Amino acid sequence: MAKKDNKQYVCQNCGSVYPKWQGKCDACGEWNCIEEEIIGGEGFSNFNSKRSKGRVIEFVPLSGAQEHLSRLSTGIKELDRVSGGGLVAGSVILVGGDPGIGKSTLLLQACAKIADSPNGKEVYYISGEEAIDQVRLRAKRLGLEQSPVKLASSTEIKDIVTTLEKSNAAVVVIDSIQTMYLDEVESTPGSVTQVRACSYELIKLAKRKGFTLFLVGHVTKQGAIAGPRVLEHMVDTVLYFEGERGHHFRILRAVKNRYGATDEIGVFEMQDQGLVEVENPSALFLAERQGNISGSCVFAGVEGSRPVLVEIQALVSPTSYASPKRAVVGWDSNRLSMVLAVLEARCGMNLSSQDIYLNIAGGLRISEPAADLAVAMAVISSLTNKPLPADMVIFGEIGLSGEIRAVSQPSLRLKEANKLGFASAITPPTHAKEKKSRVDINIYEIGNVQRLINWFN
Ligand code: TYD
Ligand code: MG
Repeated sequence: MAKKDNKQYVCQNCGSVYPKWQGKCDACGEWNCIEEEIIGGEGFSNFNSKRSKGRVIEFVPLSGAQEHLSRLSTGIKELDRVSGGGLVAGSVILVGGDPGIGKSTLLLQACAKIADSPNGKEVYYISGEEAIDQVRLRAKRLGLEQSPVKLASSTEIKDIVTTLEKSNAAVVVIDSIQTMYLDEVESTPGSVTQVRACSYELIKLAKRKGFTLFLVGHVTKQGAIAGPRVLEHMVDTVLYFEGERGHHFRILRAVKNRYGATDEIGVFEMQDQGLVEVENPSALFLAERQGNISGSCVFAGVEGSRPVLVEIQALVSPTSYASPKRAVVGWDSNRLSMVLAVLEARCGMNLSSQDIYLNIAGGLRISEPAADLAVAMAVISSLTNKPLPADMVIFGEIGLSGEIRAVSQPSLRLKEANKLGFASAITPPTHAKEKKSRVDINIYEIGNVQRLINWFN
């Protein structure tokens, strides 16, 4: 066991431990992120057990009766979907996001809904960041002040664990894990050692008592949950709450989920009375679209199990710099470079004298390669200053030889487009089997980018 005053040097980025200080972390390659931390004598240790010998563990066959996962609905459909169909007892959910994005608001709303439900579950909201009055003020603003949520302001993990040990909690929110403190660990709150030790204590308790634990985590400028990458490994589910400043809507995205799919998103709109669920995100993302403008097209995307239509905008203009500018908001800039290279190499387009700006309207971030074709179309439309038909959607992946590849769930995309009144679509060539399930929409199947340009001209 570590001696008192034992120092160790911990990378605040990835949690690697070194006996001596060094400028660069060998594990994650980050510079200037290693800080001295003191491990107390009785400090946090996974192995401070009294037993000197281990017990023999029992092995079982792979088949056998499964434990039934009971799920508790939060009353917020979008949150239920992202968490895989409701909260699993004893599971731990880490909610990350920029300051001010709405994490506390979302969790307070969820707590109130669960506490208000007829089966009267006990719900605890422990704030280390805000005073009781501030949380009350928010509850009042949200119209939730009558809800039987148990509220406390504390940062001492020992007090929290002792209190919860005696409770009958079903859901516990810790807002935020970076403010929590375990006094055996002699480093500041928010440091990797402290966050890890506090989380470990809370997670152990959640598993033993069978309550669902929400940990709120701050996000660094680089977008990772602050300090402890290690924390992501300790929890069952990691959700990111994101949104662009100046836009009202917020996306809740699962990046890890032991109890469900990870590509699901939940869409919310931040209003004066809190977060409101958005059942039809496509209509919201397309609300401000103006038809008949060059450089704009509608991409029929899929996020998790749900189709989402978004507008992709490109602006191509002659450059006044030595090297042309490429700026992307909401999409991968490497992917844009690839699409542009394919257009140049396979179609002979000259883009080297053009600045190119690409924007996913509304602030959604998309990662599907299926957006390639829509991006290419937006660029071509802006370059030629010719608008696309306003009632057309596009999807398809572009390969390096210029071929347009099939993407997943084409009929789901087309159905959504049809529902929103789109009359035509550009798609990759599809198999006959897919065609049967098609909806009433005019489809142009295009096999490569050269043909796309011919079709457009
Ligand atoms: P908050 O939940 O405190 O964010 P986080 O916990 O992620 O830091 O959200 C604060 C922001 O949300 C703040 O800028 C005000 C805004 N807001 C609304 O627009 N409407 C509301 O009803 C509430 C409670 C907050
Ligand atoms: Mg907060």
